[in-house]
Amino acid sequence: MSMENGKNAPVGVFDSGVGGLTVAREISRQLPNENIIYFGDTARVPYGSKSQNTIIRFSEQIIRFLKTKQVKAIVIACNTASALALDAVRDEFDIPILGVVIPGARAAVEATGNKKVGVVGTDATVQSGMYTKIIQGMAPDITVIEKACPLFVPLVEEGFKEHQVTREVIEYYLEPMRSTDIDTMILGCTHYPLLRSKIREYMGDKIQIVNPAYETAMDLKKLLHERDMENDGKTVQHSRYAFYVSDAAEKFRKFANTVMPFDVPTTNVVNIEEY
Ligand code: DGL
Repeated sequence: MSMENGKNAPVGVFDSGVGGLTVAREISRQLPNENIIYFGDTARVPYGSKSQNTIIRFSEQIIRFLKTKQVKAIVIACNTASALALDAVRDEFDIPILGVVIPGARAAVEATGNKKVGVVGTDATVQSGMYTKIIQGMAPDITVIEKACPLFVPLVEEGFKEHQVTREVIEYYLEPMRSTDIDTMILGCTHYPLLRSKIREYMGDKIQIVNPAYETAMDLKKLLHERDMENDGKTVQHSRYAFYVSDAAEKFRKFANTVMPFDVPTTNVVNIEEY
């Protein structure tokens, strides 16, 4: 980490679109003194149908952009980029970088009683098998069933939560999951907590639904504490959160106002291909 990125420096948080707001929201709750720079790659969403090379390239560009904002640490608030790009970017950049998959896996390992865990995520996340690898690395006796639900992301991005079609898509994807005896299911895509009540309605009360956002925020807290990088909150910032996107700023801003517990007055557009 460079010297100018002191305790008051912001934390960078990014996703392919609005999904990472569920993680930014949790960070704002658990680490209220921290400033956040959020980037949503709205011009290139979804990531879940793209190749690993592309997801690494996109993540590198976003990290280079966030570094121009002097961030002190970065949270990849996207399971797809965490599963496919975290190792590559950690090797490449001289800044602490956290993903959401390891915290999510740990939360599920702690939550399961019958040692049967379901994971829902994008095609790329499920094909990577990363959740299964990490969960079984922590507890080899856990059975993991993964299921890709690629249509959930556009339904969320389009604000279709209350639409009948969303109920049908949930049933279509989750019927095979509901008929297993898993007792825990990870929402392995940061967009999915935005459909949580609908998913809960369909899956019933018997399974525990894990949203990796809380564990991720706690990992960030631990990391900042261990490195003596926590913001003491003594410097009053004019605007503690800033939001950037690669396209469609107004649509993003309106959506962000429905997710974040405070007003999001502006969203800025960045030409991310320049980074
Ligand atoms: N929200 C992201 C994730 O957690 C990516 C969704 C997408 O762009 O496909 O996987």
